[in-house]
Amino acid sequence: MKRQSVRSLPKSESYDNRSPWMEDVKLPAFPPLAENPRVDVGIVGAGISGLTIAYLLTQAGKSVVVIDDGGLASGMTQFTTAHLSCAIDAGYLEIERIHGQQAARLVAESHLSAIHRIEHIVRKEAIDCDFERLDGFLFLGPDDREEHLERELEAVRRAGLADVEKLARAPHSPFDTGPCLRYPNQAQFHPLKYMAALAAAVQRGGGRIFGRTHAKEIRGGGAARIKAGSKSILADAVVVATNTPINDLFAVHTKQAPYMTYVIGARVPAGSMTRALYWDTHDPYHYVRLQPGGWPDGRHDLLIVGGEDHKSGQADDAPQRQARLETWARARFPFIESVDFRWGGQVMEAVDGLAFIGRNPLDQDNVFIATGDCGMGITHGTIAGILITDLILGRKNSWEPVYDPSRKRLASLGRFGRETINMAAQYADWVTGGEVSSPEAIPRGVGAVMRRGFGKVAVYRDETGMVHERSAVCPHLGCIVHWNRATKTWDCPCHGSRFDCLGKVINGPANSDLAQTNGRRREAGGHEE
Ligand code: FES
Repeated sequence: MKRQSVRSLPKSESYDNRSPWMEDVKLPAFPPLAENPRVDVGIVGAGISGLTIAYLLTQAGKSVVVIDDGGLASGMTQFTTAHLSCAIDAGYLEIERIHGQQAARLVAESHLSAIHRIEHIVRKEAIDCDFERLDGFLFLGPDDREEHLERELEAVRRAGLADVEKLARAPHSPFDTGPCLRYPNQAQFHPLKYMAALAAAVQRGGGRIFGRTHAKEIRGGGAARIKAGSKSILADAVVVATNTPINDLFAVHTKQAPYMTYVIGARVPAGSMTRALYWDTHDPYHYVRLQPGGWPDGRHDLLIVGGEDHKSGQADDAPQRQARLETWARARFPFIESVDFRWGGQVMEAVDGLAFIGRNPLDQDNVFIATGDCGMGITHGTIAGILITDLILGRKNSWEPVYDPSRKRLASLGRFGRETINMAAQYADWVTGGEVSSPEAIPRGVGAVMRRGFGKVAVYRDETGMVHERSAVCPHLGCIVHWNRATKTWDCPCHGSRFDCLGKVINGPANSDLAQTNGRRREAGGHEE
């Protein structure tokens, strides 16, 4: 997609990228690491994967330390829409084609187990997180034919999901879905209420959590080590659960691609529709759920609609995408009163449709990774909790080969090739011009890439007019970052590293900030500080 010039942006554009979960829950803050602990397991990343692993390991009597360079759920977990489903995004037809029928059965089994495990934890720990079981409906996109649903249903049944059925339309749906597949016994919850309670349960089990602690270096071997500033964690095993691994340059990053997805949260009268999960077969697909609870005034629920995905760093038209989502939603849910939330998040799409969970390919001994959420971050994160806990405890788990990060599937080579070509094409940014020729051309609150000599500079002009500059070269493998006006971040189009507007790394695989330039901070048109 051709990128737009930022010159066309309205001056007042602002976009706060907050999910409703972040409004509802005050998450506990954790202090930075100030000691050198020796534990059974060190975990990097306090999102759904890291916390679930920590919880299950503490339940098994292991000593655990979790660190995160932000705070609890401060990565992609805070932006999830928390569909807890066994209706795998890639579809069972595709999973069966790539991985085989037996693997498809294990995929279905593992996602069902993840939902059961969440339900079990909710009950055991008495977590008030709006967990509920409900139906999920897969219906056709405008260009898709009914035959697709029939073939998918056959594959779903071969995967062992015998109670999935085809219906003429979703019952109780406010709009006519047309023919659809009903997946019974799916679930949803409030992700941050769950995460806050899970963190408390980890601590009750003896686990320790540290925030604002950046893992600079991770080493496996006899005594594995996580280096964080001047402190180190020594452990028998290390888990890297940072959405995308920060501990190697290539191994997994060439097998997955980063995509941005967008979401709106709309106010609807309480009780105006029956709660269910909805997904269509459009590419990219739409996803819908209803968050109950009288939001925000006791008389409304929140309708959550997502979609409009694009490859990270390769489009800068979030407002138009959000507008299309709203149009799509209003056509189907005419009782929408207002759109109160707009946000976006990044998903890592594995080229073969399944997460990478297990032993790190480069360091098989005692380093484990969980990545490639494939748009199913909560179930894949919980699968990571179960599977990695089993691997660390030396227990057999039949899911291990399915999610093995070292796997190579011949049937996914086509997509692997396309993603590799797309990634290589991003290096052409080195020889193109800048998006603007001077900082004065950048509206307040917006960033743009400028050419300076042989290099490129990421220039952000804040709301006061102050200009902040960093190198536009991603410290992972040298692609040029692009401004994302939805999330006010610098996004790398190659492997999904992301940096805040001032250049601080917030998403791997890069593990350091955008490099400083000479003119770091100044008034537009003024002198450098
Ligand atoms: Fe790999 Fe930026 S994330 S080059």
